[in-house]
Amino acid sequence: MPLLRTLPLVLLDADTYARLWSLLDEGERARANRFMFEANRQEYVAAHGLVRLWLGRLLDRPPAALAFAPITPQGKPGLVDGPPGLDFNLSHTEGLVACAVTLEPDCRVGADVEPGGRHIGADVATAMFAAEELAWLDARPAGRSGPDMVSVWTLKEAYIKALGVGLSLPTDSFAIQPDGPCLIRHDGSMPVGQGCRLWTRDLASGHKAAVAWVGPEGRPAADLVMEEGLADLW
Ligand SMILES: CC(C)(COP(=O)(O)OP(=O)(O)OC[C@H]1O[C@@H](n2cnc3c(N)ncnc32)[C@H](O)[C@@H]1OP(=O)(O)O)[C@@H](O)C(=O)NCCC(=O)NCCS
Repeated sequence: MPLLRTLPLVLLDADTYARLWSLLDEGERARANRFMFEANRQEYVAAHGLVRLWLGRLLDRPPAALAFAPITPQGKPGLVDGPPGLDFNLSHTEGLVACAVTLEPDCRVGADVEPGGRHIGADVATAMFAAEELAWLDARPAGRSGPDMVSVWTLKEAYIKALGVGLSLPTDSFAIQPDGPCLIRHDGSMPVGQGCRLWTRDLASGHKAAVAWVGPEGRPAADLVMEEGLADLW
């Protein structure tokens, strides 16, 4: 079953931050130190500490000993020497980080989190969204503005991230139906024999989260399981 663990950054006191920092490897610490803004550094440390703690718990391995490397040409991170069937995906945004995990063979996950009130300009939607998504938005009370735009955005991003292809996939080459939600067109981006399942959640923190699961057709994913925080992971 796909899992999504969220970590609101209000839960991150100085002691917790220091413990997460101590789990990171040299490369992660160097990258964290390159951020110009402290808020971005905190998001990064929280996200990478979370994935280490959580994968360490799920796989019964020391979190600080885990190593990561890209698993797609566009740079989707994977676990070095991970068990077959493990896939995970991180997302960070203002005030929240999240990590999706699946442990089923041949399945992939993608996650995206955004502030629910994030402004996405109508011009951006027109340029990035599929015709079906624009038609859906135009039939909504707020049209091409407001939280519906964020729902479409996060779902599309989660699908792209599950595939691991980044923006090499034109964002209008596939279409999401946010009611459901489900994938209604993919123009071949999903491999033959694979199916997709999508979830979107409004979080108490005010963020929207979306998760995409891609796996063997005919083996639908169980429902998404949500978890929050770090308390049970130390
Ligand atoms: C890099 C990208 C995968 C996600 O970027 P993002 O939305 O800015 O950031 P998120 O916080 O959600 O995700 C970043 C994390 O995804 C992971 N990631 C990086 N490359 C990835 C890839 N090719 N596939 C999946 N995950 C990837 C990494 O863990 C990264 O965090 P890290 O750099 O701290 O390790 C890519 O899809 C992108 O550039 N998106 C831009 C946003 C956009 O235009 N979306 C269109 C929606 S219509």
